[in-house]
Amino acid sequence: MNDNRLPHTLVDQLQRPLQDLRISVTDRCNFRCTYCMPRAVFGKDYDFLPRPEILTFEEITRTARIFSKLGIKKIRLTGGEPLLRKNLEQLIEQLSAIQPIEVALTTNASILAKKAQALKNAGLNRITVSLDALDDPTFKLMSDADFSVKDVLEGIEQALHVGFEDIKVNCVIKRGTNDHALLDLVRYFKGTAVTVRFIEFMDVGSTNNWQPVAVVPAKEMKDTINKEFPLESLEESYLGEVARRYRYADGSGEIGFITSVTQPFCRQCTRIRLSTDGKLYTCLFANQGSDIRQLLRHQVSDAEITQHIITLWQSRNDRYSELRQIESGQKKKIEMSYIGG
Ligand code: GTP
Ligand code: 5AD
Ligand code: SF4
Ligand code: SF4
Repeated sequence: MNDNRLPHTLVDQLQRPLQDLRISVTDRCNFRCTYCMPRAVFGKDYDFLPRPEILTFEEITRTARIFSKLGIKKIRLTGGEPLLRKNLEQLIEQLSAIQPIEVALTTNASILAKKAQALKNAGLNRITVSLDALDDPTFKLMSDADFSVKDVLEGIEQALHVGFEDIKVNCVIKRGTNDHALLDLVRYFKGTAVTVRFIEFMDVGSTNNWQPVAVVPAKEMKDTINKEFPLESLEESYLGEVARRYRYADGSGEIGFITSVTQPFCRQCTRIRLSTDGKLYTCLFANQGSDIRQLLRHQVSDAEITQHIITLWQSRNDRYSELRQIESGQKKKIEMSYIGG
């Protein structure tokens, strides 16, 4: 590929640059969060992807290298639960050799305590942990799995211990299920090195029985916290940041809210997603991906794959969250456990 032919900044139809690649490394998970992989659907009979369909580490790394030449600054590994992918640290080693890309991981932390050191050694830069409650009954209600809050907290502790900084905790709040987790998590992590972000329950996929009444708007969450712990709003720290950030007025750290339902952030969406089986999605709510695996497996050159991606991004005009109020009840959407959180 002649680098001179690359556009200086690759932008889509809405002038959004391509900055962030999210890679789903497995469609499996050892949790069955009700908002993501409800057991009634993802139970015993669910057909997970067979191994030959899953991209190999070499295929993923090749794709990531191509993206790095197109200006990607951050790769986030997701799932399912990415730590269930065997030898993930080998992939991380391969990806972190692509400079100057930052490699981040989203995990439910159920087995993080065991893996933290190997992840650090492999060159992983950042970890985000999903945690929806601090009491076991609510945690189990949300995750529907045989793990406890203690497992997750030990994972976070171990990650801090081996030297990860900037750990984030993501918490999806569902009205009527884990509302109280809001203040529990604030009290627990305030003043620590961990930043908590509260996420509005989204209508992603077609299986989580999403209903508007179960969404707690970020404004309501913020008001609840603000009454007890006064908050001051902060500027975004980089273009395309999904969280609205606040700091505690007493200086003991910051929190964030991810407002994709009440205040969509599509205008600044700089993300592309690679599914476990090698399809590229330009929106979390897409119903169709662009198959890159067949290019990777049929001797197509890097230059041609690059051109394919350029065309895909340049023709992109997705803004589902903005449009959801206008167009509800459309085609079957893909699941978040398949495309990545
Ligand atoms: P940082 O690098 O820490 O800023 O990560 P991030 O905020 O980009 O990513 P993270 O994976 O932590 O995103 C948190 C949550 O925001 C996800 O789990 C989703 O619920 C939601 N989210 C992330 N990206 C998108 C997106 O493109 N569209 C929508 N609608 N929601 C998103
Ligand atoms: N709404 C909001 N966030 C979701 N996630 C998965 N499903 C949903 C949903 N319906 C996100 C959560 C979780 C990550 C893995 O994916 O942030 O922590
Ligand atoms: Fe698994 Fe994360 Fe989905 Fe929960 S949200 S089922 S932990 S992939
Ligand atoms: Fe980006 Fe689609 Fe999410 Fe909007 S809904 S922020 S376009 S992924």
